Amino acid sequence: MPLERLDPGAELAAFARDVAAGMRASPKRLPCCYFYDAAGSELFEEICALPEYYLTRAEREILTDRAATLAAAFRGPVTLMELGSGSAAKTRILIEAFLRRGPLQYVPVDISRSALDGCAAALRRDYADLDIRALAGRYEDGLRHLRTAAGGQKVVIWLGSSVGNLERAEAAQFLHRVRDAVAPRGRLLIGIDLRKSRAILERAYDDAQGVTARFNRNILVRINRELGGHFDPQTFAHRAAYDEDGGRIEMYLVSTRPQQVRIDHLGLDVQFSAGESIHTEDSYKYSPAEIRLLAKRAGFRLEQTWLDNARRFSLNVLAP
Ligand code: AVI
Repeated sequence: MPLERLDPGAELAAFARDVAAGMRASPKRLPCCYFYDAAGSELFEEICALPEYYLTRAEREILTDRAATLAAAFRGPVTLMELGSGSAAKTRILIEAFLRRGPLQYVPVDISRSALDGCAAALRRDYADLDIRALAGRYEDGLRHLRTAAGGQKVVIWLGSSVGNLERAEAAQFLHRVRDAVAPRGRLLIGIDLRKSRAILERAYDDAQGVTARFNRNILVRINRELGGHFDPQTFAHRAAYDEDGGRIEMYLVSTRPQQVRIDHLGLDVQFSAGESIHTEDSYKYSPAEIRLLAKRAGFRLEQTWLDNARRFSLNVLAP
């Protein structure tokens, strides 16, 4: 059973508040954290397997090459907390490396109960020696738990370049809180996608099979189901564009025609002109210098950076 920190009533109220604010804003926006209901989490797993979405494969390559070296650096029992664990597919590489060297407690933290339940059950089946304490909640809930947790050395892992979904200043602030949770002896292992050519990036976020488009539109499906919305998702086109100066992919849903959409539970009628967009996600990319700056702003020392062979993605070890 996961440690439950989610209050479904409060989650729904926050969703309603954020959708109402985002639909009244100009330009319109929706926070990307709401992509991850059960269907969205499954679509994201599909994205990770796409040929264009190199991030997952590049990170797996680095983990496979470096997990043993990383695990060997720790003495005694280790508590491994994973932020946004999803299916924890790549984490198995780390779990196996850590288990080879001693006792391990694994604490997956995820907002998606369905993803968390599936992940914990599969890991329990496959690793009899692994102590699992799944935590259904937000990252902050996980960090609060870690700050007060007894036990061994604390390692937080945050994979998949999820840090890229925060603005740069927010990312540094959040990592500062991670620093406080793992200090004084722990580490943060963080996967960060690198700046690269527009063509590679835009393909990664607008794949040929249209999985990312479905992932993007799923947020409208969720508004329909949970807030009594009347969106026709097919009347919104998926758009992914790279802003080179900002170093970020921006995702939008673009209304293909003028329309008015009712959201019953918010008592709101939202007007769209043809071509008007809803900004749904930013995904920031980092240069090596920006990674060093991020670590410094967060109060961390950048202990190690590993790249994949194609030099597209980085895995970084940060020490307090
Ligand atoms: C979860 N996050 C790091 C993904 C990313 O690459 O920004 C979410 C995603 N959006 C579209 N494709 C994947």
